[in-house]
Amino acid sequence: MDFKIPFHRSWFGPEEIKEVVDTLESGWLTTGPKTHRFEEDFKEYIGCKHAIGLNSCTAGLHLSLMALGFSRGEEVITTPLTFPASANVIVHSNLTPVFADIEPGTLNIDPEQVRAKLTSRTRAILPVHFAGHACDMDALLGLAAEQDLRIVEDAAHALETFYKGKKIGGLGDTTSFSFYATKNITTGEGGMLTTNNDKLAEKIRVMRLHGLSRDAWKRYDKRGFAKWELHVPGFKYNMSDINAALGIHQLKKAGQFLELRKKYAARYDEAFRDVEEIETLKIKDYTQSAHHIYVIALDLTRLTLNRDQILDEMQQAGIGVAIHFEPLHLQPFYQQRYGTREKDFPVATSYGERILSLPLFPRMREEEVEEVIQTLTGLIRKYRKKLVGTG
Ligand SMILES: Cc1ncc(COP(=O)(O)O)c(C=O)c1O
Repeated sequence: MDFKIPFHRSWFGPEEIKEVVDTLESGWLTTGPKTHRFEEDFKEYIGCKHAIGLNSCTAGLHLSLMALGFSRGEEVITTPLTFPASANVIVHSNLTPVFADIEPGTLNIDPEQVRAKLTSRTRAILPVHFAGHACDMDALLGLAAEQDLRIVEDAAHALETFYKGKKIGGLGDTTSFSFYATKNITTGEGGMLTTNNDKLAEKIRVMRLHGLSRDAWKRYDKRGFAKWELHVPGFKYNMSDINAALGIHQLKKAGQFLELRKKYAARYDEAFRDVEEIETLKIKDYTQSAHHIYVIALDLTRLTLNRDQILDEMQQAGIGVAIHFEPLHLQPFYQQRYGTREKDFPVATSYGERILSLPLFPRMREEEVEEVIQTLTGLIRKYRKKLVGTG
């Protein structure tokens, strides 16, 4: 469906185009010099010891769990309000996903609920910095230290997120970023894993490319033919130089992109401040948000339409909208295999019925932001329940 105002439009300049052409002409397309350069730039940008280029954030989460060396059936606690990838990788690693409910306001995993879900089999917490708002990392890191747990951060939304003045990317054992098409910066498809742990980095570098002990680029260098050895069956998760060519220049623009996201998010906040049917998300003092997505929750008790009908109406008006996310504890797979029920996660269940995401991207024009506001507030006025008079 073509929308007048799409949910997202990517933004490339002549720099990205030139770099991709240069890559094509160089003759080296897969993991090589451009991926290496992007990794070096990313490491410096985050201020961490290792940055490993991958073909997705999902790959980073999966590699983290595989490299940490847990045993079959051990448990990893995560949020139910996330993209399926965050929990699916736990299943793919032969581990058991355990959901902990979210906190109202930020929709991030609630550390108290995490504590309530600890068992003797818990090995890790997989927090997701929802919409670019950092999780309460002191509480989660405190729990991890107390219980000897690992922290595998899902930072798909959190490029440019700060927690207490520190950039997300070096707090947990590993952090995985996404460069999927709609993310704060994009390489089309792609991801980056950061860590300060040398051993883990070495293991993940090997596991990202089938488990071969040297990556292809180095195998064919000038020092002559070098044979690889296989110590562990790895995955095909490496980043290609074509994608990295985009990332090198996108990364330089991350700050500029964020300023625009911030400006448009502030305009939405202001416009919805006095609309009682719309709850906007809270930003806690400890974080600077990456404003990856703009999520609102509707007060359905005041409206004659449900959320899905409002989404339909927005689309009919030519505006691209989305849901972040359909809660995972309500999905047939998790319900059938792990017996998750809606009543066990009341906060995620309630928000899951009421949330929607509005377009928010740097290439948006101010008039487009205004049109989204006018369309949504117009629908709210049209479908507002009439109050029954008391006098
Ligand atoms: C919270 C979250 N985690 C993980 C992912 C997966 O990212 P990727 O597509 O790079 O694997 C996404 C993608 O949208 C996401 O929103």
